[in-house]
Amino acid sequence: MTRTPDLRPDFLWGASTSPHQIEGNNTGSDWWRMEHQSQGHLELSGDALDSYHRFGEDMRLLADAGLNAYRFGIEWARIEPEPGQFSRAELAHYRRMIDTARDLGLEPVVTLHHFSSPRWFVDEGGWTSPTAVERFSRYVEHACTILQDVNWVCTINEPNILALMSGMSTAVEAGVDINLGAGMRMPTPSTEIGEALVRAHRAAVDVVREHTTAKVGWTVAQQALVPAPGSEELYAELKWGWEGLYHHGTRGDDFLGVQSYTSQLVDEKGIVPAPESPDNTLTGWAYRPDALGIALRDAWTATEGLPLLVTENGIATTDDTRRIAYTTEALGCLYDAVADGIDVRGYLHWSALDNFEWGHWAPTFGLIAVDRETFERTPKPSLAWLGGVARKGGALDAE
Ligand code: BGC
Repeated sequence: MTRTPDLRPDFLWGASTSPHQIEGNNTGSDWWRMEHQSQGHLELSGDALDSYHRFGEDMRLLADAGLNAYRFGIEWARIEPEPGQFSRAELAHYRRMIDTARDLGLEPVVTLHHFSSPRWFVDEGGWTSPTAVERFSRYVEHACTILQDVNWVCTINEPNILALMSGMSTAVEAGVDINLGAGMRMPTPSTEIGEALVRAHRAAVDVVREHTTAKVGWTVAQQALVPAPGSEELYAELKWGWEGLYHHGTRGDDFLGVQSYTSQLVDEKGIVPAPESPDNTLTGWAYRPDALGIALRDAWTATEGLPLLVTENGIATTDDTRRIAYTTEALGCLYDAVADGIDVRGYLHWSALDNFEWGHWAPTFGLIAVDRETFERTPKPSLAWLGGVARKGGALDAE
């Protein structure tokens, strides 16, 4: 049986990446420094996938498979290596990426900040510094010189996770293993940093609007939290700290980027880590393709009907058949949401490539495998499969 959804004709079908995870040698960033200070707790990004030089090949593989969109980021630490010193060459590099995407028929979805910041920005006090909004806006203004004709701009990736991560460099210096995938009770993201990120986002939206015609928004890591009976009050509190603040921060945006991987239960003590199970993914998360449906519905309700773009969804696994099974089910949930009237503009899979998973190389999310010595790219069957789904307007062969 084939299921054909009723999607918009301009629905985006693509894959996502972020600069620090694929480019290599992002030496001016806080993450590079943190990796080197971690005393072995974090693996090094190093050359990563050398996508800084090989982005054309990466994009061609996506386009040849049948996809029509590519979400990638531009790296602040490269564009502004010292405060106020902007690199025209780096801006030109990212402009070439935009042009290459377009030439290949891929709609560029450009992220301005994806977890990594220039070292100097962090040294100045990071997001809660009194200068943060001005610093970020100035960077965004320079970024806009290459974005005039880009249609989709994401300001800050997963501000909720960024708020959680911002305490990390201190943790790393103290020798703590910060593997985000570990099945432990996670602290709630800092509201102080979250509110600072909302201010930075709002300022960035104004700058992007002033200089471009892009649709602008940010992307939130949707937790798909579900309350255990009797835990509704704590659930509401945690939902605000994890998502509500960031949904509220979208007021006035053009869209919200939805990022979803798993769903978690909230009991009387908080978010319950995924119990050990052979079904868990390589990041230790429960196998929950249905999370995307919960995420879309939560985001739609919380933003009172903002258009949604799935900017990340995927699974860390070495078994590509499982990736296809996960994505098939996730897409089915997306189609159900669309059938219920939720305005979903596209689906961008995480990730295009097996990339640097923030201190760890083992969790492989990619549609394309990469040999990290030769940098040779090998598309997995899931890439051709997703491209095929895209070509068929989303039609899924269901059992
Ligand atoms: C991030 C990605 C990350 C992915 C899988 C999201 O939190 O935006 O950078 O690799 O999830 O963990």
